[in-house]
Amino acid sequence: MSKIKTAFFCSNCGYESTKWLGKCPSCQEWNTFVEEVIDKGKETGWKSYEPNHAPGKAIALQNVQVNEERRITTADAELNRVLGGGIVQGSIVLVAGEPGIGKSTLFLQHGLMMKDLVVLYVSGEESEQQIKMRADRLKIVNDNFYLLTETGTQQIFQEIKKLKPQLVIVDSIQTLQSSLIDSGAGSVSQIRECAAEFQRFAKQTNTPVFLIGHITKDGAIAGPKILEHMVDTVLQFEGDRHYAYRILRTLKNRFGSTAELGIYEMTGDGMRVVSNPSEILITQREDQLSGSAIAATMEGMRPLLIEVQALVTQSVYGTPQRTVSGFDLRRLQLLLAVLEKRGGFQFGTKDVFVNIAGGLKIEDPSIDLAVICALLSSYEDIPLSHQVCFAGEVGLNGEIRAVNRIEQRIAEAEKLGFEKIFVSRYNKKNFNTAAYKIEVVAVSRVDEVYKALF
Ligand code: TYD
Ligand code: MG
Repeated sequence: MSKIKTAFFCSNCGYESTKWLGKCPSCQEWNTFVEEVIDKGKETGWKSYEPNHAPGKAIALQNVQVNEERRITTADAELNRVLGGGIVQGSIVLVAGEPGIGKSTLFLQHGLMMKDLVVLYVSGEESEQQIKMRADRLKIVNDNFYLLTETGTQQIFQEIKKLKPQLVIVDSIQTLQSSLIDSGAGSVSQIRECAAEFQRFAKQTNTPVFLIGHITKDGAIAGPKILEHMVDTVLQFEGDRHYAYRILRTLKNRFGSTAELGIYEMTGDGMRVVSNPSEILITQREDQLSGSAIAATMEGMRPLLIEVQALVTQSVYGTPQRTVSGFDLRRLQLLLAVLEKRGGFQFGTKDVFVNIAGGLKIEDPSIDLAVICALLSSYEDIPLSHQVCFAGEVGLNGEIRAVNRIEQRIAEAEKLGFEKIFVSRYNKKNFNTAAYKIEVVAVSRVDEVYKALF
C-alpha cells in the first residue's frame, strides 16, 4: 500500500500549501487551513463504477449529442418548481438550512411521497425509531421507502449496491465519514470527500442524490463553500423558526432558473404546501389601524402581497431607536433620511420600528414604497385603507422608481380584490392600465403619494 500524501488547503479560497499557515496568503483569511488527503493510496469508496476513461479529445461543439435530461416529476408542485421542473436523473442537490428549520421533516416527507421510486433515506443524525415516529406524524405509508442509519460512506455504498435505490437522501452531509480521510466527521476534507463520493455515484449510476447540510447562523453553508461548486443544485430552506412559514429557495441550478421558490407551512403533521401565500400573509382585520401598508412584492418569479407594519413613537432617549424585523436596517435608515430631507418629516426625534408580517425576509426593493407609507401612516396616526397596495422603489431624491414584472404584481393585487395600487410613473408607460379592474395610480415622488393618501 502506498503512503498517504496530504497537503493543506485554504477552506475559503482553495490555496494550497505544503505546511499549515495561520493566515492565507491568497485571500488573507485567518484559520482557514485544513489538511487534506491528495493521494489516497487506497481503494476509493465507489471504485467499481469508475468509468474506463479514454484520454480527453477535442470535439466540435456541433457534433456533441444532447439527450434531453430526464426528470422525475414529484407529487409536490413546489419542489418541482424550485428544481426547474422535477428531479433530474443523476443530479446532486444540496439542501442547506439552519438546524431545526425542518429539513429532515420536508425531505422525509418528499421521500415518502415518491411512491413509485425505491427511496433510500440515509440518516446519520437520528435513530430508526426517531425517524419512524416522525414518519408516523406525517401519516404517509410507503412500502418502497428504506432507512439506513449509518455514517460511513463505504458501508452506505455497500447497502446502496444491494438495494439499488432510485433516489438517495442523505441527512446530513456533515455526519458522514469516509474511511479514506483521518479527520473527524464535519471537517472540511471529510465533507468534501463524502460529497465527491456521492457525486461520482450520482453521475455514474444516474441516481439523483439529495444531500442535506446545516448552515451557520450567518447563512454560510457550514465550512465548505467548496460544496456549492460540486453539486448541481443548491436549495436553501429558510424561515423564522418561531413562525410557521418556510421558503425553499434555489441558489444555484444547473438545470433551471435560480429565481424560483416554494413556500411551505409547518403544521403538526408535516409541511403543507402554501399555494396562495398572499392570502395568509395579509392580516384579515375589520378595524383599521395606522402604521400598516400592503406591498406587492416578488419572491422569485411569484408575486406576493405582504403586510408591512411600522410604529413611530416619540423617542425617550437622546439617540432614537431603529428596529427592524424582516427588513434591512440600513435601507430603513435611508428611507427615513429621504423622508426627512424631501418631505420635512421629523423622524430624528422618533423611535421607529418596522416589521414584515409572517416572519418573512424581503429583499425586493419594491417594498420601499409600502414601508414609506406605513411609516407615514404611523407618523400621522391615520390608517390606510386595506384596499390599497404599493409597488415601487424609492430613490435618494425621493423619486419613486420603476420595478420589474409590474403586470404580474398588478394582476396579483387584482386577484386578491384590491381596489387601488400605487406604482411608479416610470412604470406606467409600458403597459395598458385600462386592461385592469383595479385602479392603477402612477406617482413619481414621495410627496405626491403623501398628498394622495393623507
Ligand atoms: P427537523 O426536520 O428535525 O429540522 P432539521 O432537520 O432542519 O434540523 O424539524 C424540527 C422541528 O419541526 C421540530 O421543532 C418539530 C417540528 N415539527 C413540526 O412542527 N411538525 C411535524 O410534523 C414534524 C415532524 C416536526
Ligand atoms: Mg435534521
